[in-house]
Amino acid sequence: MVAETNELLRRACKNTVAVPGFNIPYLPMLEPIVRALRDTDAFGLIMVARLEWMKFEAQSLEAVAEEYQRVKDERCTRLHLDHVPVIDEDGLPVDYLSIMRQAIDAGYQSVMIDGSRLPLAGNIAATRQVVELAHAAGIAVEGELGAVLGHEDGSVPSYEEIFASGKGFTDPAEAQQFVRQTEVDWLSVAVGSIHGSISKALKDKKKVEARLNIPHLRRISEVVKIPLVLHGGTGIDRRYISDAVRLGCVKINIGTALRQPFEQMRGDSVVKAQQLVYDTAISLLRDELNIIGSARVLKA
Ligand code: 13P
Repeated sequence: MVAETNELLRRACKNTVAVPGFNIPYLPMLEPIVRALRDTDAFGLIMVARLEWMKFEAQSLEAVAEEYQRVKDERCTRLHLDHVPVIDEDGLPVDYLSIMRQAIDAGYQSVMIDGSRLPLAGNIAATRQVVELAHAAGIAVEGELGAVLGHEDGSVPSYEEIFASGKGFTDPAEAQQFVRQTEVDWLSVAVGSIHGSISKALKDKKKVEARLNIPHLRRISEVVKIPLVLHGGTGIDRRYISDAVRLGCVKINIGTALRQPFEQMRGDSVVKAQQLVYDTAISLLRDELNIIGSARVLKA
């Protein structure tokens, strides 16, 4: 029997091992990422977010699940549904419960509900609905509290402003309440990271080098005892990452770091673009995350 993703993240916390979640905005990226995990014996999640089938070329959550089933390696991988927002990056409401049902039917092994654009009570209510649905199907749920910005078009404050002011950072007491009332399995927190931009104007630009407010993360981890999640994992200095992992922030979402090389090369050839994704993933696993052999530690 394969270990459940929730159990693997708990083991990751205990062993202070990072678990990357790799986004799939283009279906041909999936195979080289799985291969990189297998070749380094590292454990990671393969994920797709709603905006990746709406605005990129992941096609659908079913298409990603099908490709995943074709190439998966259960020693090193699990399938996760990333960001299904209650209100999307364009401010529009999303039929999130239908998407969750679709994901459960398609074989996703964990899901994320992102109610972070709602006030606390609304976020708790929406997340709770998804927890009931997903737990009945036996899979784990990630919620988000606080604002990890970057996916929105238009006027987002500068990174330095966000970091210095702590605007949108997850409040530790609210996080404690959120986890108790929703019974989510993992919590995505805002402590300084930012998503790589997906707007037309900025999506090819080098992502800002984000930092993490480690003392703030510590305050959250003192009161929230479930695995924490770092979104916007591209381009954060590895010292911050290892400090975060030590504080139980073990799931690290990575999108832009692999999307941009794929997009730059795919005009030449998809095969070359896949090779570049593979090479980049290997160096992330080895040099940034330092998790070669983690599948053995986690006994996935
Ligand atoms: P980056 O694109 O900044 O790596 O963020 C990915 C992410 O957090 C997806 O949920």
